[in-house]
Amino acid sequence: MNKKKILITGGAGYIGSHTCVVLMQAGFEIVVLDNFCNSSEIALTRVKKIVGRDFKHYVLDVRDTDSLRNVFAVEKPFAVIHFAGLKSVNESIDQALNYYDNNIAGTLSLLKVMKESQVYKLIFSSSATVYQQSTIMPIAENSLLSACQPYGQSKLMIEEIIRDIVKVDANWQVAILRYFNPVGNHESGLIGEAPCGKPNNLLPLISQVASGELANLSIFGNDYPTLDGTGVRDYVHVMDLAKGHVAALQAIESWHEALPLTVNLGTGRGYSVLEMIHAFEAASAKVIPYKMVGRRAGDLAVCLADPSLAATLLDWQAKESIEKICADTWLWQSMNPQGYTEI
Ligand code: NAD
Ligand code: UD1
Repeated sequence: MNKKKILITGGAGYIGSHTCVVLMQAGFEIVVLDNFCNSSEIALTRVKKIVGRDFKHYVLDVRDTDSLRNVFAVEKPFAVIHFAGLKSVNESIDQALNYYDNNIAGTLSLLKVMKESQVYKLIFSSSATVYQQSTIMPIAENSLLSACQPYGQSKLMIEEIIRDIVKVDANWQVAILRYFNPVGNHESGLIGEAPCGKPNNLLPLISQVASGELANLSIFGNDYPTLDGTGVRDYVHVMDLAKGHVAALQAIESWHEALPLTVNLGTGRGYSVLEMIHAFEAASAKVIPYKMVGRRAGDLAVCLADPSLAATLLDWQAKESIEKICADTWLWQSMNPQGYTEI
């Protein structure tokens, strides 16, 4: 039994809640911190139901440095997994200051308290959006970095801050994980992606069309240089992603280089929008009506991870198939058509 206590910021959110399950099942103790600005306390109750174990959580904004200090003093975590942040690209364009404040000031507050408390082990949630758009596919970690919207900029700036502190203080043991397209949910259907407001990402939209919440799906462009003209992405099952965090926790314990351990979490295999629709139709036995509309500004034709470094450094590989992703998503959608409404 591994009794190391992991503090999970944003632990009630989509990826955080799945990581809570995987960490507890791997024998870690957990404590969650979340202000529920994009999540529900019910998610934490469901995590407890899946695992059959209790844990403590703090309703707290990570920018509240004084309260955060108290949490560290009481809980004495062994390591931190930092999910807390705002994540919508579109929203970040309209609310740039809010995004920079939440994501950057939040991380600065956390890093300060970690240093004061001498907790130096950190896993940070970054994104494929930090890579320069014109880069060669599949994307390796040493590709050029640049972001063209405030959300991506905030991730890139946080990465830079982490690289700066790690360079001059050898105590830090940090992993930066760059996620590609997280999808799916726990196979119980008890936890899943439940954003407040209308989703922007493909799979939650497809499942809402399948359940009749939305009339049809708009496909953003069918004139890309891909097999069927629609955009291709690297969809990674969130349970695989969650396991990547456990692998990263193990890896940073022996990581003492001047740069943070930085890896992509993706599959290396791409699916087009039409392929995703057909896979979902097969999993749900529903027809997904769709219409072709123009390209979405800022979209790439293809975005694929080179996942080989994660295999080498973390001994991690995504395992779940697209069929499993769609089946799990459909179960979550069918069991929770309005998201987290009841315990
Ligand atoms: P999410 O919105 O479901 O979870 C984030 C959680 O953080 C929520 O529970 C929210 O209430 C909480 N939170 C936000 N700001 C906070 C603050 N200031 N103090 C305390 N809690 C706060 O998002 P997610 O999909 O689970 O993403 C988790 C992390 O992974 C985010 O940092 C996101 O940017 C990153 N990421 C997500 C994706 C994706 O497609 N889901 C892709 C790449 C990177
Ligand atoms: C989006 C974000 C990206 C973020 C990623 C994972 C944008 C411009 N990019 O990327 O920063 O890291 O989510 O959270 O928002 N699609 C449709 N119709 C829809 C929705 C999507 O055709 O209604 C297509 C898109 O054009 C794309 C694919 O589906 O080809 C996947 O879209 P999405 O789920 O939004 O992910 P990304 O585009 O990879």
